[in-house]
Amino acid sequence: MLVLLVAASLAVPRSVDARVEALMRRMTLDEKVGQLIQYNPSQHDLDKLIAAGRVGSVYNLHSAEQATELQRIAVERSRLHIPLLIGQDVIHGFRTIFPIPIGIASSWDQSAAELEARVAGREAHAIGIRWTFAPMVDIARDPRWGRVAEGAGEDPFLGSAMAAAYVRGFQESSILACAKHFAAYGAAEGGRDYNTADMSEERLREVYLPPFKAAIDAGARTIMSAFDSLNGVPMTANHHLLTTILRNEWHFHGFVVSDFDAVDQLRNHGIAATPQQAALKAIRAGVDMDMVDGDYETLARAVREGLLPVSTVDAAVRHILREKFELGLFDHPDAAESETGLDRADARRVADESIVLLKNEGAILPLSKKIGTLAVIGPLAGSKRDMLGSWFAHGNPDDAVTLLEGIRSTVSAQTNVLYAEGCGILDGSDQDIAKAIETAKQANVVVLALGEAGGMTGEASSRAFLDLPGRQEQLLESIVATGKPVILVVMSGRPLTISWAADRVPAIVWPWFPGIEGGNAIAGVLFGDVNPSGKLPISIPRSAGQIPVYYAHLPTGRPANPNNKYTSKYIDSPSEPLYPFGFGLSYTRFDYSDLRIQKTGNRFEVSAVVRNAGSRAGVEVVQLYVHQRVARVSRPVKELKGFERIALGAGESRRVVFTIAPKDLRYWLGGKWVVDPGTFDVWIGPSSAEGLEGTLKYSN
Ligand code: NOJ
Repeated sequence: MLVLLVAASLAVPRSVDARVEALMRRMTLDEKVGQLIQYNPSQHDLDKLIAAGRVGSVYNLHSAEQATELQRIAVERSRLHIPLLIGQDVIHGFRTIFPIPIGIASSWDQSAAELEARVAGREAHAIGIRWTFAPMVDIARDPRWGRVAEGAGEDPFLGSAMAAAYVRGFQESSILACAKHFAAYGAAEGGRDYNTADMSEERLREVYLPPFKAAIDAGARTIMSAFDSLNGVPMTANHHLLTTILRNEWHFHGFVVSDFDAVDQLRNHGIAATPQQAALKAIRAGVDMDMVDGDYETLARAVREGLLPVSTVDAAVRHILREKFELGLFDHPDAAESETGLDRADARRVADESIVLLKNEGAILPLSKKIGTLAVIGPLAGSKRDMLGSWFAHGNPDDAVTLLEGIRSTVSAQTNVLYAEGCGILDGSDQDIAKAIETAKQANVVVLALGEAGGMTGEASSRAFLDLPGRQEQLLESIVATGKPVILVVMSGRPLTISWAADRVPAIVWPWFPGIEGGNAIAGVLFGDVNPSGKLPISIPRSAGQIPVYYAHLPTGRPANPNNKYTSKYIDSPSEPLYPFGFGLSYTRFDYSDLRIQKTGNRFEVSAVVRNAGSRAGVEVVQLYVHQRVARVSRPVKELKGFERIALGAGESRRVVFTIAPKDLRYWLGGKWVVDPGTFDVWIGPSSAEGLEGTLKYSN
């Protein structure tokens, strides 16, 4: 146990604010600036800097011992004994690795997101981590951007629901959540990471900001500013976003951390010439803590030289110290407790829910467990590492159950399971493909597991082409050419363009990167122990050339018309995605009927009956969309405004009721939210492309 010097040495005023003020009165300027600085463990002379009170936070440590050792230096050897805030990228699990966030979003289940965050938070807390750089709540409509994997997809309504759930989960485990990357990072031009975003205030407010607001409303204590520049102003120096909106409008009381090295990158952005200029721009804009580049070390001198009022530094210090007190760090700075074992049951539950069934021609799935001979082929079938996706903290690939292992333990003892890798993810030989063809020929059915490597998505992983990488397209075509029924399983962190396969294979299962229990979960779906319920949180394009393709687009003056060339479409491709937002199949069938719309005051109750018309129990994600026909500006052709996951037994039906309030019909115009009276189309259905349709008339 660390010695609790701080609590003892202060007169311990009761309220957090009073404790902060009492502490700040004792701090030198250098100690104050120290609280604004985060270093990584490789920082030169880190021990000495911590002992001198020049470091407020460290990040991405390797072990509980390292955390305890550094914390001990801060608490026992620094003059004011202020504990460090230890942070880490805990994104979709800490030791127990869950599906990647885009997979979790496919569950449309807030309780799944909350559960993952709670488990991850508990495991991270156990080794002294009290802050995660998650959730990433960036809306992403361009799958070329590798970080699509880390978020909840293309839609602000679903994204907001998931953002709030993660925040609750992490903070229930007493670690601070950090909604990132503020803002519009997902709108990087060309899908190229770190690139510029440029958009109207309307789009920013309606699409990119709502998940941040939802995270803050759910209690998120920290925000990370983004790498990008927005409308020409780098986010690390963006006063409009970091102060006007975040602090003044939304009344955010936590603290803002920059992204990695992003303060100093203001020099590359071309708005600062020196580290000090960069630091001044960032702190004046509202960045409280500088992640790793050390530019904030220049701030004490800037204050002494009269370039910066000490009150600006004080405000940032206050934000950070308040969180340290609220978190209880001063009273319990040490690691929480001993590490616990893996939480496989929870990882399995979430993986089950995150799998999306995209095609199932002739009800070929689920397969019989007594299938005779089954060939499992593909570079993703036997890879443990790739099940984990990107950012897997202290996860261990050895803990992952591969698809091959999952299948072997699911099928009956009489089933003969053959395996051939076929090719690598990025490479392969003619012999390996030939061997895979021979293996396929011996089987009754082929399960073909293709996709990306776990590390091909996440940060700095933009792609210009979205087809199956390496020789996998060739492997796919060769296996299909055998004439054997092929069940395609696609593992990836982003939509891939699989149009060729979609036309030719009878079944497609999309588990994303499903985490340590992935192999069992996919096998559960393939053999019917799990009835799939996932729905796409992002459209799957037919080709990279269609991007951006998202359901909530604006209408045009020339809507697509196959009989008129001069309408909005391609001459060489349909405009619609291959699979739309919200789409996903089940082994049962859900019928929708009896749409009702009732007005009470200025609210509407919109409902429909959903019936499980198949022969087995299942879960359906019922979705509500609206569209305003005539407004002062063009409104999206559809916008998600509600969803509910419902479990129905065979033959069972339920009326699903949504409420539409004026705030669900509003949009941003001329600097404020407005609602225009008028007619709105309303849909309740199983995806953004189908549903029962009605109208409502709103008048204020
Ligand atoms: C850069 C990434 O953009 C951010 O998401 C991450 O949290 C930081 N590095 C820290 O690792």
